[in-house]
Amino acid sequence: MASGKAEEVLRMEHITKQFGSVYANRDINFDVRAGEVHTLLGENGAGKSTLMNVLFGLYQPTSGDIYVRGRKVKIESPSQAVKLGIGMVHQHFMLVEAMTVFENIILGDTRSAGIFIDRNARRKEILELSEKYGLEADLDQPITELAVGAQQRVEILKALYRGCDVLVLDEPTAALTDTEAEGLFEIMNRLKDEGKSVIFISHKMREVLRVSDRVTILRAGQTVETLDIGEVSGEDLANKMIGRELKPSQYEKNEAAGNEIAVLEHVSYHKNSKHNGLNDVSLQIRAGEVVGIAGVDGNGQSQLAMLLTGNIAPEEGSLNLKGTTVATFDPNGFIRENVSHIPEDRNKAGLVGNMSVADNLVLKITRDPRFSYGNGLHLKKKSIHGYALEMQKKYDIRCSSVGQEARNLSGGNQQKVILARELESSPDLLIAVHPTRGLDIGATRFIHDTVIAQRDRGGAVLLISADFDEILEVSDRILVMFEGKIMGEYSGKNPPIEEISLAMAGK
Ligand SMILES: Nc1ncnc2c1ncn2[C@@H]1O[C@H](COP(=O)(O)OP(=O)(O)OP(=O)(O)O)[C@@H](O)[C@H]1O
Ligand SMILES: [Mg+2]
Repeated sequence: MASGKAEEVLRMEHITKQFGSVYANRDINFDVRAGEVHTLLGENGAGKSTLMNVLFGLYQPTSGDIYVRGRKVKIESPSQAVKLGIGMVHQHFMLVEAMTVFENIILGDTRSAGIFIDRNARRKEILELSEKYGLEADLDQPITELAVGAQQRVEILKALYRGCDVLVLDEPTAALTDTEAEGLFEIMNRLKDEGKSVIFISHKMREVLRVSDRVTILRAGQTVETLDIGEVSGEDLANKMIGRELKPSQYEKNEAAGNEIAVLEHVSYHKNSKHNGLNDVSLQIRAGEVVGIAGVDGNGQSQLAMLLTGNIAPEEGSLNLKGTTVATFDPNGFIRENVSHIPEDRNKAGLVGNMSVADNLVLKITRDPRFSYGNGLHLKKKSIHGYALEMQKKYDIRCSSVGQEARNLSGGNQQKVILARELESSPDLLIAVHPTRGLDIGATRFIHDTVIAQRDRGGAVLLISADFDEILEVSDRILVMFEGKIMGEYSGKNPPIEEISLAMAGK
C-alpha cells in the first residue's frame, strides 16, 4: 500500500515546540501517506508525544506548519483535529473512570449536544464498528472495571467512532499482553486495508520492524531521518536512535544466593479469583538473587507485589520478612523495613504529578537529616536541590530543571524518577513491577544494570514482568504464575524456555 506513489494525507513542516528554554521539537519534518503505518522512534524525551500533541491541537507549535491533504491548516483544539480526520489514543489514557464504555465513546460527540440524543442509534453504530474491527467491548461496563487492554480498545473505538483517516497510537502496546498486542496489529492492518493511516509509537523494536511501513527517527527533538522499513535492521534503527552503538548485554547468573529475606508460606488472598488472587503461594527471595516472576499479566502478580509491599494482607498463610513474621501489613512499615517498590502504575502510586522532580526524589526520605531539620519539619532546600541534580545525572533524567513538575516529564523520564527514588535507598528487598515499561532501549539497559548491581551488593530482588525476554535476561531463578498459583520453578541458567511458556499458559 505504502508505495512512493501513495497519496500524502498529512505533512508537518519545520515544527518547533518550545517549553520555556526547552526545545521539545526542533524543526521537525514528518509526513504520512494514505494506507501506511508510519512509526515515530526515539529515546525517552525525544519529542514524540509532543509532536503528536501538536498535531492533535493540544499544543500550539512555536513555529512551523501543518498540511492536511495538501491544505494548510491551523489545529487549535482536539475537536478541530477530529474534524480534520485525526484521531489519537494517548500514552496515558484519558477515559473518564466514573462513566461507562458507551458514555465515554459518545463523550464530545457534537451530535449528542442536544438533550434528546438517539442512544439506540448510537449504540448500534458503535456495535457495528466494534464488530467490523474486532474490537470487543461491553458498552455498559464502567471504565474502572476494565483491564488495560480493554481500555485500550475503548480508546480506539472512540477514535474510530469520531471518524478518522489518521490514527495516532502513542505507545499502545506498552501495557498490553502479547496476545492483546497481536489483536491490535490486526486492527491496524484492517485500517490500512481501508486506506487509513496509523502513526505508531513504540519502544519495542520487534514490533516496530513488524508493523511499520516507514520509520522516522527523532533524537533530542530533531528528525534524524525517515526510512523505509525494508531498508534497515533493528540494530541500525537502535543505533541511529541513540546516536551510538549499544552492545548486547549478558549478565552472569548468581547461583549462590544468601539468607532468606522474604519467605511466603501457603499464602492465599481472594484465592478463588483466578486473575486477582493468590492461591497457596509459597516462595523465598534470598539476598543476592533476582527472582523473576514470569506470566501473563493478571494472574496474581499485582497481588503478590501488593502483599510484599504491605498494601494487602494475606487471608491465609504467612510472610516472614528478614527473620520476623509480619504481623501488620502497612506500606509505611514495609518502607521502614527497607523494602522498595517500583509500582505497576506510576501515575497512581509512583509520582506526585504536581510536585517537582526534586521533591519526588526525596519523597520517602524527607526526614533524613541530610534533607531536613527537626524530623522533616524544615526542609533543607539547597541539599535537596543538590541531591536532585546528582540523581538527574546518575539516572539520566531528562528535564528542563529539577524544579519542573513531574507530570510534565516524558513518560519514560517519569519512570526514571521513581527508579532513582526506590533504588538509592539500597533496599534489602526490591519489588520491581514492570520496571522498564515505556523505557527506551538505552534506559532499559541502564535499569537492568542497576537491578543486577543491587543484587551483587546483596539485595534481594523480585522482578515481575510481562516481558519474557526481560525475565530471562535478568533473573537468577524463575517462577511461573498462572491463576494465582506458582506453576513451577526454574533456574535462570539455561532455562527450559518451552516448558516455561507452557507453564505460563497453565499447561
Ligand atoms: N508541558 C510541558 N512542559 C514542559 N516541558 C515539557 C512539557 N511536555 C513535554 N515537555 C518536555 O519535552 C520533551 C519531550 O517530551 P515528550 O513527552 O514529547 O517525549 P517522548 O519522546 O514522548 O518520550 P517518552 O518515550 O518517554 O514518552 C521532554 O524533555 C519533556 O520534559
Ligand atoms: Mg511519549
